[in-house]
Amino acid sequence: MSVFKGEVTTLPPDKSISHRAALIGALAEGVTEITNFSGGFDNQSTLGVLGACGIPFTQEEVPGPWGGTIRRVVIESKGLWSFRPSGAPLECNNSGSTMRMMAGILAGQPFGSELVGDGSLMKRPMQRVAGPLRDMGAGVELSESGTAPMRIAGTKELRPIVYRLPVPSAQVKSLVAFAALHAEGESRIIEPVLSRDHTELMLGLEASEVDGERVIVVPGRRRIEARPFLVPADPSAACFIVALALLAPGSEIMIRDVCLNPTRAAFLDIMIAAGGQITIENRRTVGGEDIGDILARGGGVLEPLSISDPGVVARVIDEIPMLAVLSVFASGSFEVSNAGELRTKECDRLNALAVNLQRLGCLCEESPDGMRVSGGVRAQHSPVVVECFDDHRIAMSFAIAARATGMDIELSDSAVVGVSFPNFFALLESLEV
Ligand code: S3P
Repeated sequence: MSVFKGEVTTLPPDKSISHRAALIGALAEGVTEITNFSGGFDNQSTLGVLGACGIPFTQEEVPGPWGGTIRRVVIESKGLWSFRPSGAPLECNNSGSTMRMMAGILAGQPFGSELVGDGSLMKRPMQRVAGPLRDMGAGVELSESGTAPMRIAGTKELRPIVYRLPVPSAQVKSLVAFAALHAEGESRIIEPVLSRDHTELMLGLEASEVDGERVIVVPGRRRIEARPFLVPADPSAACFIVALALLAPGSEIMIRDVCLNPTRAAFLDIMIAAGGQITIENRRTVGGEDIGDILARGGGVLEPLSISDPGVVARVIDEIPMLAVLSVFASGSFEVSNAGELRTKECDRLNALAVNLQRLGCLCEESPDGMRVSGGVRAQHSPVVVECFDDHRIAMSFAIAARATGMDIELSDSAVVGVSFPNFFALLESLEV
Protein backbone atom coordinates (compact mmCIF):
# COMPACT_ATOMS: atom_id res chain seq x y z
CA MET A 1 0.00 0.00 0.00
CA SER A 2 1.31 3.43 -0.88
CA VAL A 3 1.47 6.41 1.46
CA PHE A 4 1.06 10.01 0.28
CA LYS A 5 2.40 13.05 2.09
CA GLY A 6 3.06 16.66 1.31
CA GLU A 7 1.79 20.13 0.73
CA VAL A 8 -0.08 20.89 -2.50
CA THR A 9 0.34 24.41 -3.86
CA THR A 10 -0.11 23.52 -7.52
CA LEU A 11 -3.73 22.41 -7.65
CA PRO A 12 -5.45 23.62 -10.85
CA PRO A 13 -7.15 27.01 -10.51
CA ASP A 14 -10.93 26.70 -10.26
CA LYS A 15 -12.48 25.78 -13.60
CA SER A 16 -15.87 27.43 -13.01
CA ILE A 17 -14.36 30.71 -11.79
CA SER A 18 -11.77 30.75 -14.61
CA HIS A 19 -14.51 30.40 -17.28
CA ARG A 20 -16.56 33.17 -15.70
CA ALA A 21 -13.59 35.51 -15.17
CA ALA A 22 -12.75 35.27 -18.89
CA LEU A 23 -16.35 35.72 -20.04
CA ILE A 24 -17.06 38.60 -17.64
CA GLY A 25 -13.77 40.19 -18.72
CA ALA A 26 -15.01 40.05 -22.31
CA LEU A 27 -18.31 41.67 -21.31
CA ALA A 28 -16.66 44.42 -19.26
CA GLU A 29 -15.33 47.79 -20.31
CA GLY A 30 -11.60 48.12 -19.77
CA VAL A 31 -8.73 45.82 -18.91
CA THR A 32 -9.44 42.66 -16.86
CA GLU A 33 -6.45 40.99 -15.25
CA ILE A 34 -7.03 37.37 -14.20
CA THR A 35 -4.38 35.96 -11.86
CA ASN A 36 -4.06 32.17 -11.65
CA PHE A 37 -6.16 31.29 -14.71
CA SER A 38 -6.50 27.55 -15.33
CA GLY A 39 -4.36 25.86 -17.96
CA GLY A 40 -6.92 23.02 -18.26
CA PHE A 41 -8.21 22.29 -21.79
CA ASP A 42 -11.76 23.42 -20.91
CA ASN A 43 -10.70 26.89 -19.82
CA GLN A 44 -8.36 27.17 -22.78
CA SER A 45 -11.38 26.40 -24.99
CA THR A 46 -13.17 29.43 -23.55
CA LEU A 47 -10.18 31.64 -24.37
CA GLY A 48 -10.04 30.12 -27.87
CA VAL A 49 -13.70 30.95 -28.50
CA LEU A 50 -13.27 34.51 -27.16
CA GLY A 51 -10.29 34.98 -29.46
CA ALA A 52 -12.30 33.68 -32.42
CA CYS A 53 -14.98 36.28 -31.55
CA GLY A 54 -12.43 39.08 -31.77
CA ILE A 55 -11.84 39.66 -28.05
CA PRO A 56 -8.15 40.53 -27.57
CA PHE A 57 -6.34 38.80 -24.70
CA THR A 58 -2.85 37.81 -23.63
CA GLN A 59 -1.86 34.80 -21.58
CA GLU A 60 1.54 34.42 -19.94
CA GLU A 61 3.24 32.40 -17.23
CA VAL A 62 4.40 34.51 -14.31
CA PRO A 63 6.15 33.52 -11.06
CA GLY A 64 3.64 32.16 -8.52
CA PRO A 65 3.53 33.06 -4.81
CA TRP A 66 4.79 29.56 -3.85
CA GLY A 67 7.52 29.24 -6.47
CA GLY A 68 6.77 27.71 -9.86
CA THR A 69 4.60 29.63 -12.29
CA ILE A 70 0.95 30.60 -12.61
CA ARG A 71 -0.98 31.93 -15.59
CA ARG A 72 -1.97 35.53 -15.97
CA VAL A 73 -4.63 36.36 -18.55
CA VAL A 74 -5.31 39.96 -19.53
CA ILE A 75 -8.46 40.73 -21.52
CA GLU A 76 -9.20 44.08 -23.08
CA SER A 77 -12.78 44.76 -24.08
CA LYS A 78 -15.15 47.60 -24.83
CA GLY A 79 -18.21 46.12 -23.13
CA LEU A 80 -21.29 44.02 -23.86
CA TRP A 81 -21.22 44.29 -27.65
CA SER A 82 -17.49 43.84 -28.33
CA PHE A 83 -17.94 40.41 -29.97
CA ARG A 84 -17.50 39.94 -33.73
CA PRO A 85 -18.72 37.16 -36.06
CA SER A 86 -16.03 34.50 -36.29
CA GLY A 87 -16.64 33.29 -39.84
CA ALA A 88 -16.18 29.67 -38.71
CA PRO A 89 -17.87 27.39 -36.16
CA LEU A 90 -16.75 28.12 -32.59
CA GLU A 91 -14.91 25.05 -31.26
CA CYS A 92 -15.77 24.33 -27.61
CA ASN A 93 -14.01 20.91 -27.56
CA ASN A 94 -15.08 19.02 -24.36
CA SER A 95 -16.36 22.10 -22.52
CA GLY A 96 -20.10 22.27 -21.82
CA SER A 97 -19.56 25.43 -19.77
CA THR A 98 -17.95 27.17 -22.78
CA MET A 99 -20.74 26.19 -25.16
CA ARG A 100 -23.63 26.99 -22.85
CA MET A 101 -22.37 30.22 -21.33
CA MET A 102 -21.12 31.56 -24.71
CA ALA A 103 -24.59 30.82 -26.14
CA GLY A 104 -26.03 33.32 -23.65
CA ILE A 105 -23.59 36.00 -24.74
CA LEU A 106 -23.97 35.30 -28.46
CA ALA A 107 -27.78 35.49 -28.19
CA GLY A 108 -27.35 39.20 -27.44
CA GLN A 109 -24.97 39.95 -30.31
CA PRO A 110 -26.42 41.24 -33.60
CA PHE A 111 -25.09 38.37 -35.78
CA GLY A 112 -25.25 34.61 -36.25
CA SER A 113 -22.88 32.05 -34.67
CA GLU A 114 -22.43 28.30 -34.62
CA LEU A 115 -21.08 26.37 -31.62
CA VAL A 116 -19.59 22.87 -31.95
CA GLY A 117 -17.62 20.49 -29.73
CA ASP A 118 -16.02 17.05 -29.47
CA GLY A 119 -17.87 13.70 -29.58
CA SER A 120 -18.85 13.92 -25.90
CA LEU A 121 -20.10 17.53 -26.03
CA MET A 122 -22.08 16.95 -29.26
CA LYS A 123 -24.19 14.39 -27.34
CA ARG A 124 -25.08 16.65 -24.39
CA PRO A 125 -28.55 18.22 -24.02
CA MET A 126 -28.84 21.80 -25.28
CA GLN A 127 -32.66 22.30 -25.21
CA ARG A 128 -32.14 23.75 -21.74
CA VAL A 129 -30.07 26.46 -23.45
CA ALA A 130 -32.38 27.04 -26.41
CA GLY A 131 -35.60 27.41 -24.34
CA PRO A 132 -34.84 30.60 -22.40
CA LEU A 133 -32.86 32.19 -25.24
CA ARG A 134 -35.78 31.72 -27.66
CA ASP A 135 -38.12 33.19 -25.02
CA MET A 136 -35.86 36.24 -24.95
CA GLY A 137 -36.09 36.65 -28.73
CA ALA A 138 -32.94 34.95 -30.08
CA GLY A 139 -33.08 32.22 -32.73
CA VAL A 140 -31.54 28.88 -31.65
CA GLU A 141 -31.32 25.81 -33.90
CA LEU A 142 -30.23 22.41 -32.63
CA SER A 143 -29.97 18.92 -34.08
CA GLU A 144 -33.12 16.79 -34.12
CA SER A 145 -32.05 15.21 -30.85
CA GLY A 146 -31.65 18.61 -29.15
CA THR A 147 -27.86 18.67 -29.23
CA ALA A 148 -25.13 20.81 -30.86
CA PRO A 149 -24.26 21.99 -33.46
CA MET A 150 -26.03 25.01 -32.01
CA ARG A 151 -26.78 27.83 -34.45
CA ILE A 152 -27.65 31.09 -32.78
CA ALA A 153 -29.28 34.04 -34.49
CA GLY A 154 -28.38 36.78 -32.04
CA THR A 155 -30.21 40.07 -31.70
CA LYS A 156 -29.57 43.41 -30.07
CA GLU A 157 -33.27 43.48 -29.16
CA LEU A 158 -33.30 40.72 -26.50
CA ARG A 159 -36.28 40.87 -24.15
CA PRO A 160 -35.86 40.55 -20.38
CA ILE A 161 -37.10 37.29 -18.85
CA VAL A 162 -38.46 35.83 -15.62
CA TYR A 163 -37.01 32.35 -15.69
CA ARG A 164 -37.51 29.51 -13.21
CA LEU A 165 -34.77 26.92 -13.70
CA PRO A 166 -36.34 23.53 -14.57
CA VAL A 167 -33.15 21.70 -13.52
CA PRO A 168 -30.53 22.83 -11.00
CA SER A 169 -27.82 24.05 -13.37
CA ALA A 170 -25.31 26.83 -12.79
CA GLN A 171 -24.47 26.79 -16.49
CA VAL A 172 -28.09 27.51 -17.45
CA LYS A 173 -28.42 30.12 -14.69
CA SER A 174 -25.25 31.81 -15.97
CA LEU A 175 -26.15 31.76 -19.65
CA VAL A 176 -29.55 33.32 -18.87
CA ALA A 177 -27.77 35.95 -16.74
CA PHE A 178 -25.26 36.70 -19.52
CA ALA A 179 -28.05 37.05 -22.09
CA ALA A 180 -30.11 39.17 -19.66
CA LEU A 181 -27.21 41.62 -19.30
CA HIS A 182 -27.86 42.50 -22.97
CA ALA A 183 -31.66 42.86 -22.66
CA GLU A 184 -33.53 46.10 -22.26
CA GLY A 185 -34.97 45.94 -18.73
CA GLU A 186 -34.58 43.84 -15.62
CA SER A 187 -34.65 40.02 -15.64
CA ARG A 188 -35.22 37.61 -12.76
CA ILE A 189 -33.83 34.11 -12.45
CA ILE A 190 -35.55 31.83 -9.94
CA GLU A 191 -33.69 28.84 -8.53
CA PRO A 192 -35.77 26.26 -6.64
CA VAL A 193 -32.52 24.40 -5.84
CA LEU A 194 -29.38 26.46 -5.30
CA SER A 195 -26.51 25.77 -7.70
CA ARG A 196 -22.98 27.22 -7.58
CA ASP A 197 -23.23 31.00 -7.26
CA HIS A 198 -19.96 32.30 -8.74
CA THR A 199 -21.70 34.23 -11.54
CA GLU A 200 -23.85 36.20 -9.11
CA LEU A 201 -20.88 36.90 -6.84
CA MET A 202 -18.57 37.93 -9.68
CA LEU A 203 -21.16 40.20 -11.33
CA GLY A 204 -22.33 41.60 -7.97
CA LEU A 205 -25.96 40.64 -8.73
CA GLU A 206 -28.63 41.07 -6.09
CA ALA A 207 -30.01 37.75 -4.84
CA SER A 208 -32.62 37.02 -2.17
CA GLU A 209 -34.64 34.15 -0.76
CA VAL A 210 -38.39 34.29 -1.57
CA ASP A 211 -40.69 31.44 -0.42
CA GLY A 212 -37.76 29.03 -0.21
CA GLU A 213 -36.53 29.86 -3.73
CA ARG A 214 -33.57 31.99 -4.70
CA VAL A 215 -34.35 35.01 -6.87
CA ILE A 216 -31.51 36.70 -8.74
CA VAL A 217 -32.06 40.10 -10.29
CA VAL A 218 -30.16 40.90 -13.49
CA PRO A 219 -30.23 44.51 -14.64
CA GLY A 220 -30.15 44.88 -18.43
CA ARG A 221 -27.60 46.93 -20.34
CA ARG A 222 -25.74 47.99 -17.21
CA ARG A 223 -22.13 48.97 -17.87
CA ILE A 224 -19.80 46.33 -16.42
CA GLU A 225 -16.58 47.85 -15.24
CA ALA A 226 -13.45 45.74 -15.64
CA ARG A 227 -12.01 44.47 -12.35
CA PRO A 228 -9.21 42.07 -11.47
CA PHE A 229 -9.92 38.45 -10.57
CA LEU A 230 -7.80 36.09 -8.47
CA VAL A 231 -8.76 32.44 -9.05
CA PRO A 232 -8.50 30.11 -6.01
CA ALA A 233 -7.63 26.41 -6.31
CA ASP A 234 -10.41 24.16 -7.62
CA PRO A 235 -12.35 22.30 -4.89
CA SER A 236 -13.48 19.71 -7.45
CA ALA A 237 -9.80 18.94 -8.11
CA ALA A 238 -9.06 19.01 -4.35
CA CYS A 239 -11.71 16.31 -3.88
CA PHE A 240 -9.49 13.78 -5.70
CA ILE A 241 -6.49 14.55 -3.52
CA VAL A 242 -8.53 14.44 -0.31
CA ALA A 243 -9.93 11.04 -1.37
CA LEU A 244 -6.39 9.83 -2.06
CA ALA A 245 -5.33 10.74 1.48
CA LEU A 246 -8.43 9.16 3.06
CA LEU A 247 -7.97 5.89 1.15
CA ALA A 248 -4.28 5.42 1.95
CA PRO A 249 -3.55 4.80 5.66
CA GLY A 250 -0.67 6.90 7.02
CA SER A 251 -1.15 9.62 4.41
CA GLU A 252 -1.27 13.30 5.31
CA ILE A 253 -1.79 15.97 2.66
CA MET A 254 -2.24 19.71 3.05
CA ILE A 255 -3.91 21.47 0.10
CA ARG A 256 -3.53 25.25 0.05
CA ASP A 257 -5.82 28.09 -1.01
CA VAL A 258 -8.84 26.05 -2.10
CA CYS A 259 -12.18 27.66 -2.96
CA LEU A 260 -14.53 26.70 -0.09
CA ASN A 261 -17.65 28.45 -1.40
CA PRO A 262 -20.51 26.58 0.36
CA THR A 263 -22.11 25.79 -3.03
CA ARG A 264 -18.94 23.85 -3.95
CA ALA A 265 -17.43 22.41 -0.76
CA ALA A 266 -20.23 20.11 0.46
CA PHE A 267 -18.14 17.04 -0.43
CA LEU A 268 -15.95 17.91 2.59
CA ASP A 269 -18.98 17.90 4.93
CA ILE A 270 -20.03 14.53 3.51
CA MET A 271 -16.58 13.03 3.97
CA ILE A 272 -16.22 14.44 7.50
CA ALA A 273 -19.68 13.16 8.52
CA ALA A 274 -18.64 9.70 7.27
CA GLY A 275 -15.56 9.74 9.50
CA GLY A 276 -12.93 11.23 7.18
CA GLN A 277 -10.09 12.92 9.05
CA ILE A 278 -10.22 16.36 7.48
CA THR A 279 -9.61 19.78 8.98
CA ILE A 280 -9.96 23.20 7.39
CA GLU A 281 -7.45 25.87 8.31
CA ASN A 282 -6.78 29.48 7.50
CA ARG A 283 -10.33 30.27 6.31
CA ARG A 284 -10.64 33.69 4.71
CA THR A 285 -12.53 35.57 2.01
CA VAL A 286 -10.73 36.68 -1.13
CA GLY A 287 -12.54 38.52 -3.92
CA GLY A 288 -15.95 37.50 -2.53
CA GLU A 289 -15.08 33.77 -2.40
CA ASP A 290 -14.39 31.76 0.78
CA ILE A 291 -11.01 30.07 0.60
CA GLY A 292 -8.90 28.00 2.97
CA ASP A 293 -6.44 25.13 3.38
CA ILE A 294 -7.56 21.50 3.63
CA LEU A 295 -5.62 18.98 5.73
CA ALA A 296 -6.61 15.36 5.02
CA ARG A 297 -5.27 12.28 6.85
CA GLY A 298 -5.76 8.65 5.95
CA GLY A 299 -6.42 5.60 8.01
CA GLY A 300 -9.77 6.17 9.73
CA VAL A 301 -12.89 4.08 9.17
CA LEU A 302 -15.20 5.56 6.55
CA GLU A 303 -18.95 4.86 6.77
CA PRO A 304 -20.70 4.07 3.46
CA LEU A 305 -21.98 7.21 1.70
CA SER A 306 -25.62 7.67 0.81
CA ILE A 307 -26.60 10.91 -0.95
CA SER A 308 -30.23 11.75 -1.70
CA ASP A 309 -31.15 15.33 -0.74
CA PRO A 310 -31.61 17.29 -4.02
CA GLY A 311 -29.93 20.37 -2.51
CA VAL A 312 -26.90 18.33 -1.48
CA VAL A 313 -26.78 16.53 -4.85
CA ALA A 314 -26.59 19.94 -6.61
CA ARG A 315 -23.72 21.00 -4.36
CA VAL A 316 -21.63 17.86 -5.02
CA ILE A 317 -22.69 17.20 -8.61
CA ASP A 318 -19.09 17.12 -9.92
CA GLU A 319 -17.75 15.20 -6.91
CA ILE A 320 -20.19 12.27 -7.00
CA PRO A 321 -17.93 10.04 -9.16
CA MET A 322 -15.08 10.37 -6.64
CA LEU A 323 -17.41 10.07 -3.64
CA ALA A 324 -18.89 6.89 -5.15
CA VAL A 325 -15.52 5.28 -5.81
CA LEU A 326 -14.19 6.39 -2.40
CA SER A 327 -17.21 4.92 -0.62
CA VAL A 328 -17.06 1.62 -2.50
CA PHE A 329 -13.32 1.15 -1.92
CA ALA A 330 -13.49 2.24 1.75
CA SER A 331 -16.74 0.59 2.85
CA GLY A 332 -17.98 -1.70 0.08
CA SER A 333 -21.13 0.20 -0.81
CA PHE A 334 -22.59 3.48 -2.07
CA GLU A 335 -25.99 4.91 -2.82
CA VAL A 336 -27.24 8.04 -4.63
CA SER A 337 -30.69 9.22 -5.77
CA ASN A 338 -32.22 12.43 -7.18
CA ALA A 339 -29.13 12.65 -9.37
CA GLY A 340 -30.50 12.21 -12.92
CA GLU A 341 -28.37 15.23 -13.95
CA LEU A 342 -25.35 12.92 -13.76
CA ARG A 343 -26.57 11.34 -16.98
CA THR A 344 -26.05 14.67 -18.81
CA LYS A 345 -22.39 15.31 -17.96
CA GLU A 346 -19.27 14.65 -20.06
CA CYS A 347 -20.71 11.13 -20.20
CA ASP A 348 -23.61 9.36 -18.49
CA ARG A 349 -21.79 9.22 -15.17
CA LEU A 350 -24.24 6.86 -13.43
CA ASN A 351 -23.76 4.34 -16.21
CA ALA A 352 -19.99 4.91 -16.40
CA LEU A 353 -19.69 4.26 -12.66
CA ALA A 354 -21.86 1.14 -12.91
CA VAL A 355 -19.95 -0.29 -15.90
CA ASN A 356 -16.57 0.19 -14.23
CA LEU A 357 -17.58 -0.84 -10.69
CA GLN A 358 -19.06 -4.02 -12.18
CA ARG A 359 -15.72 -4.70 -13.87
CA LEU A 360 -14.24 -4.43 -10.36
CA GLY A 361 -16.66 -7.10 -9.11
CA CYS A 362 -19.26 -4.86 -7.40
CA LEU A 363 -23.01 -5.37 -7.64
CA CYS A 364 -24.61 -2.26 -9.20
CA GLU A 365 -28.27 -1.41 -9.59
CA GLU A 366 -29.01 1.68 -11.68
CA SER A 367 -32.26 3.67 -11.58
CA PRO A 368 -33.16 6.63 -13.83
CA ASP A 369 -31.87 9.09 -11.23
CA GLY A 370 -29.45 7.11 -9.14
CA MET A 371 -27.62 3.92 -8.31
CA ARG A 372 -26.92 1.49 -5.52
CA VAL A 373 -23.58 -0.31 -5.25
CA SER A 374 -22.91 -3.21 -2.91
CA GLY A 375 -20.71 -6.25 -2.52
CA GLY A 376 -17.39 -4.38 -2.42
CA VAL A 377 -14.48 -4.62 -4.83
CA ARG A 378 -13.38 -8.13 -5.83
CA ALA A 379 -11.29 -7.86 -8.98
CA GLN A 380 -11.06 -11.34 -10.54
CA HIS A 381 -8.44 -10.57 -13.13
CA SER A 382 -5.61 -8.13 -13.53
CA PRO A 383 -5.37 -5.46 -14.80
CA VAL A 384 -8.97 -4.21 -14.72
CA VAL A 385 -9.47 -1.81 -17.63
CA VAL A 386 -11.54 1.25 -16.65
CA GLU A 387 -13.46 2.77 -19.58
CA CYS A 388 -13.15 6.58 -19.29
CA PHE A 389 -15.98 7.55 -21.72
CA ASP A 390 -14.23 10.87 -22.63
CA ASP A 391 -14.76 11.95 -19.02
CA HIS A 392 -11.94 13.43 -16.93
CA ARG A 393 -13.73 12.88 -13.62
CA ILE A 394 -14.43 9.19 -14.30
CA ALA A 395 -10.75 8.71 -15.23
CA MET A 396 -9.43 10.51 -12.13
CA SER A 397 -11.84 8.83 -9.68
CA PHE A 398 -10.62 5.34 -10.59
CA ALA A 399 -6.99 6.47 -10.92
CA ILE A 400 -7.11 7.70 -7.30
CA ALA A 401 -8.50 4.39 -6.04
CA ALA A 402 -5.83 2.50 -7.98
CA ARG A 403 -2.96 4.64 -6.63
CA ALA A 404 -4.22 4.56 -3.05
CA THR A 405 -4.90 0.82 -2.86
CA GLY A 406 -2.27 -0.48 -5.27
CA MET A 407 -4.97 -2.26 -7.27
CA ASP A 408 -3.98 -3.03 -10.87
CA ILE A 409 -6.27 -0.68 -12.82
CA GLU A 410 -5.60 0.56 -16.35
CA LEU A 411 -7.38 3.64 -17.76
CA SER A 412 -8.68 3.42 -21.34
CA ASP A 413 -7.65 7.08 -21.82
CA SER A 414 -5.44 8.81 -19.27
CA ALA A 415 -4.91 11.98 -21.37
CA VAL A 416 -8.53 13.03 -20.72
CA VAL A 417 -7.52 14.28 -17.22
CA GLY A 418 -6.06 17.35 -18.98
CA VAL A 419 -9.59 18.73 -19.40
CA SER A 420 -9.44 20.03 -15.83
CA PHE A 421 -6.26 18.74 -14.14
CA PRO A 422 -3.24 18.68 -16.50
CA ASN A 423 -0.71 17.98 -13.68
CA PHE A 424 -2.83 15.20 -12.09
CA PHE A 425 -0.40 12.29 -12.57
CA ALA A 426 2.70 14.41 -11.85
CA LEU A 427 1.12 15.60 -8.59
CA LEU A 428 0.26 12.03 -7.49
CA GLU A 429 3.84 11.02 -8.24
CA SER A 430 5.23 13.91 -6.20
CA LEU A 431 3.04 13.06 -3.17
CA GLU A 432 3.93 9.36 -3.05
CA VAL A 433 6.38 8.68 -0.22
C1 S3P B 1 -20.66 24.16 -13.92
C2 S3P B 1 -21.90 23.71 -13.55
C3 S3P B 1 -22.25 22.29 -13.47
C4 S3P B 1 -20.99 21.44 -13.38
C5 S3P B 1 -19.95 21.81 -14.39
C6 S3P B 1 -19.54 23.26 -14.21
C7 S3P B 1 -20.43 25.61 -13.98
O1 S3P B 1 -22.94 21.91 -14.63
O2 S3P B 1 -21.33 20.06 -13.51
O3 S3P B 1 -18.82 20.99 -14.26
O4 S3P B 1 -19.26 26.06 -13.99
O5 S3P B 1 -21.43 26.35 -14.01
P1 S3P B 1 -24.53 22.10 -14.79
O6 S3P B 1 -24.80 23.54 -14.91
O7 S3P B 1 -24.89 21.34 -16.03
O8 S3P B 1 -25.12 21.50 -13.55
